[in-house]
Amino acid sequence: MNDISRSDNRLSMEKSDPGRRGIRFKNTLKAKENVPAGLARKTAPKLPELSEFDVVRHYTKLSKINFSVDTHFYPLGSCTMKYNPRVNEEAAALDGFAGLHPLAHDNAAQGTLEMLYDLEKRLCALTGMDAFTLQPAAGAHSEFTGLLIAKAYFAKKGQDERTEIICPDSAHGTNPATAAMLGFNAINIKSGPDGRVNPDDLKAHLGNKTAVLMLTVPNTLGLFESRIEEIVEMAHKAGALIYMDGANFNALIGLVKPGELGVDIMHINAHKTFSTPHGGGGPGAGGIGVKKHLEEFLPVPRIKKESGTYKTDFSCPDSIGKVKAFFGNVGVLARAYAYLLMHSKKELGGIAENAILNANYMKSRLQEVYPSYSKDHCMHECVLTPPSELTAKGLKTLDIAKRLLDYGFHAPTIYFPLIVHEAIMIEPTETESKETMDAFITAMLEIKREGAADPQLLKDAPHTMPVKRLDEVQAARQPNLRW
Ligand SMILES: Cc1ncc(COP(=O)(O)O)c(C=O)c1O
Repeated sequence: MNDISRSDNRLSMEKSDPGRRGIRFKNTLKAKENVPAGLARKTAPKLPELSEFDVVRHYTKLSKINFSVDTHFYPLGSCTMKYNPRVNEEAAALDGFAGLHPLAHDNAAQGTLEMLYDLEKRLCALTGMDAFTLQPAAGAHSEFTGLLIAKAYFAKKGQDERTEIICPDSAHGTNPATAAMLGFNAINIKSGPDGRVNPDDLKAHLGNKTAVLMLTVPNTLGLFESRIEEIVEMAHKAGALIYMDGANFNALIGLVKPGELGVDIMHINAHKTFSTPHGGGGPGAGGIGVKKHLEEFLPVPRIKKESGTYKTDFSCPDSIGKVKAFFGNVGVLARAYAYLLMHSKKELGGIAENAILNANYMKSRLQEVYPSYSKDHCMHECVLTPPSELTAKGLKTLDIAKRLLDYGFHAPTIYFPLIVHEAIMIEPTETESKETMDAFITAMLEIKREGAADPQLLKDAPHTMPVKRLDEVQAARQPNLRW
């Protein structure tokens, strides 16, 4: 265990020693002469006075406290914290992408437009959808865009009475939240005992008011909707559209094309499937794929290719308009594009296969001690629960998660999905080695042993972090947001 709690955790301000200096530069800017008198500071800024070595040590130490995919195994279910290849960074940093002015005329932006156009086409080929937009900045933003498209579609058909969106309880939480944000009624349906949508229950909820069935595939229990074709047919018969939350496409890429299953709208999360830095509702990249009958509603500008030249097209009368400035987060999309170009068709299938293999390895080695919610094989992630020997002693999933930090592992996602009591959701991803997974499994088994022998050890964990267990009630009621 690496005990970083014992190191010197003072702020750089607290380490300041008057008179200490790093490098001295000659005053080439002639700041005193060049800054207008009215703008000049009256007093010197309060900066820590440290040597260059002090500063290097200070920041190197801080960087070591951080948990990241580059430093620690990070099995955060539903987040896909996999390795982001450095070549993605090089691609995004190419001057043609990074140096392009956002308002550049199409003629001066041909390379970027070509990249976006080709990325859209490649995503269509991988998903079986007919058209894509890359404007959304994340998964949740994609859902918002997708439901705006559905709204525009029903408005054009004169079916404004379709005000309901059906979301199974195994859907990602952003699905019903997005539906509510757009003024739809989110109708929750319960999963069957196998953790999948029960078609009979679905039938009872489908009707003239249903606009969209939002399916997360694989769902948040890490399960594939094995009756998806039947489900899609039922929803279509009722006049509804199928929206597939394809954030977990990393479990399907190269193996399944949602468009061929009848999905009308789907989104992808570039950070989950295409190894870009994490978005988290913000500065990432999503993307919406739609079938032909919905293409006219996609956001503008659409990127078109005419006689070998790429151009932006704003002349789409039924478009929902813009959902993001310019073309979306192009730097993130360039990373996703690099990742796609790096893999052959066969290798893309291997990504999903290995993600599934790793999750099932983890599940099969742990489930005897940490019972699995589902007895079936999982897809890219598995949902376990704490051992009864620990719960009998008052220990909770949170205690196990906190103790894992002492072993140098980022905790898995906990208490999600909500339908599993005390859930522990593990997503190893395809980029982790067997040795790393084995080390994590050993730690989980050891924690079970420790908890059974000495429950307080887990209740007080983490023991080796600079910040110990917080009083979460106090933190919520009386947050102290300043050092
Ligand atoms: C299944 C699923 N849907 C939607 C989202 C939301 O995506 P984002 O965090 O990019 O908004 C996530 C997040 O990872 C997800 O796992």
